[in-house]
Amino acid sequence: MGLTACNATPVPIDPKYNAMIANGSFPSGEAARGKTLFNSRIIGKQAASGCIVCHSAEPGVIIIGPSQVGIATLAEEAFHSPDYKGKATTLEGYLWESMLFPAVYVTPGYPDVMYRDYGKSLTEQDLADLVAYLTTLK
Ligand code: HEC
Repeated sequence: MGLTACNATPVPIDPKYNAMIANGSFPSGEAARGKTLFNSRIIGKQAASGCIVCHSAEPGVIIIGPSQVGIATLAEEAFHSPDYKGKATTLEGYLWESMLFPAVYVTPGYPDVMYRDYGKSLTEQDLADLVAYLTTLK
């Protein structure tokens, strides 16, 4: 299960992702496929918990993490926070960064428990599709 995979050894992630976030250029995805992935309880080749285990796509419904509706506002708050140490400057970048490096910025009021290895267990296309879907939620 994904929840125990934290801390001990940092997992190397493909450096292309750091470059994508730094450059702010990302592959485009397919929102419909992202929606299906978002709503799957187990995803990726390490059979990790899926997004819907912790996030809703309904306004104000908090499971473990924040609802993904209003994500644009949360991204703006992050960019204005002195605690934000990430490199993203756009909503799209913030979403990629949040999935690949969840610990770079922990949304205030929430536990730092998001699964760490989506960057290894999901494909680049999976990540792009999820971002395409999440940006439809606003
Ligand atoms: C084990 C529970 C868990 C799972 C599974 C999980 N998340 Fe999270 N996620 C969190 C928590 C808790 C936070 C808030 C703390 C933080 O920022 O790390 C968060 C934060 C986020 C954020 C940024 C914070 C914000 O403003 O909403 C995004 C984007 C996000 N998650 C997307 C996803 C996506 C997409 C998936 C599936 C690929 C996913 N999460 C799976 C728990 C989870």
